[in-house]
Amino acid sequence: MAIQRPKGTQDLLPGTVEQWQYLEETIRRVCRDYGYEEIRTPIFEATELFQRGVGQTTDIVKKEMYTFLDKGDRSMTLRPEGTASVCRAYVEDKLYGQSQPVKLYYTGPMFRYERPQSGRFRQFHQFGVEVLGADQPIVDAEVICLVWDLYQRLGLRGLEVHLNSVGCPTCRAAHREQLQRFLTTRKSELCQDCQERYERNPLRILDCKNPNCQAVTEGAPTTLDTLCDDCRSHFEKVLSLLSGAGVAYRVDPRLVRGLDYYTKTAFEVMVEEIGAQSAICGGGRYDGLVEEIGGPATPGIGFAMGLERVLAALQVQGKFPDTKPKLFAMLIALGDKAQNEGFAIMNALRGKGVPVRMDLLGRSLKAQLKAADREGAELALILGEEELERQVLLLRDLNSGEQTEVPLSKVIEVIYMKHQRGV
Ligand code: HAM
Repeated sequence: MAIQRPKGTQDLLPGTVEQWQYLEETIRRVCRDYGYEEIRTPIFEATELFQRGVGQTTDIVKKEMYTFLDKGDRSMTLRPEGTASVCRAYVEDKLYGQSQPVKLYYTGPMFRYERPQSGRFRQFHQFGVEVLGADQPIVDAEVICLVWDLYQRLGLRGLEVHLNSVGCPTCRAAHREQLQRFLTTRKSELCQDCQERYERNPLRILDCKNPNCQAVTEGAPTTLDTLCDDCRSHFEKVLSLLSGAGVAYRVDPRLVRGLDYYTKTAFEVMVEEIGAQSAICGGGRYDGLVEEIGGPATPGIGFAMGLERVLAALQVQGKFPDTKPKLFAMLIALGDKAQNEGFAIMNALRGKGVPVRMDLLGRSLKAQLKAADREGAELALILGEEELERQVLLLRDLNSGEQTEVPLSKVIEVIYMKHQRGV
């Protein structure tokens, strides 16, 4: 039996890859405009980084990591996300010694052992941004605006930014206590997972998809109810900056992110049309993470978006420009000698940046003309034995059908000039 690719992974074939490239190029342009620089970290890291960074009680660490022992018996994990790695690099490569804040972005594959379904993969790709070393609310607003601007440039419609503040360790402790008190008499009605969460991480109960748990938590205190003065004024400032920038947001007091490192601002961007996995982007502030993994106390904020989901939204909304590479000329050489001469001409033209192709299958004149048409060539350059003898080449304009002869000695110059002029 033929070997198949692993469940939850994809082959990206020509046709689709051009859409990925278009998305990646737009991302790079936006990042450049906003002054974010690219960072590339390893695909695998010491398992402990994610245990400490993402959090021991999260689904990612408990159930979804691709973890293995390497040949030196060290536990390694294929990265399930990018934030922990960027913070590790910030500490290890001493980026805290540079002028602050450090504004970074990354794109690349991430790995989570999840149940594959539409929009959910085991190998998926994220574009993410992290800003380290700045605690002001204007930074939160800037990264959300960057996401918003990217989606505007891509032409995406029907987006909503969901925003919450999950507070700092001080107000979180107060919330935890209030939430536990609220749930204490109805604990047994919660699902098994939430009963465990009750002790270890009760906040996540608010995010459970189980209808029973949702019924039990109706009217439960949210983190917004218990924000301290600092967290509240931070959140209000973020909201007023976003309103001024024209971002369509909705405060969602029940928004709880699936990773443990968040403090203060947390957000997700939803788009309806792509089905159940409607979150195309998620992020927030993480003011304790760098310290958690052994670095100096440093505030941070960022987001990551699932590129498969962004592409699905662009496909549903028909937002891709025509990205098929344009062929300018098809060089049709008939006979052995003409092929040698034609090959040299094609390479000289390619050297000058003119997209020219030749037949690679030994096909007939008719078949080659058909191929030129199919590939959208502007010109056919025809070189047979007889033309070669006369040292000319037939130049056929495939739009008008008009045909002229060009001396071989002039052919590079003439075609190059036509390409420059676009005809
Ligand atoms: P996350 O919410 O786990 O956050 O993932 C961010 C985005 O990645 C999701 O909104 C979704 O679009 C995409 N995604 C996640 N899992 C999958 C999957 N299995 N298949 C397809 N797409 C997926 C993070 O990863 C944080 N590191 C974001 C962050 C950066 N927070 C601060 N800085």
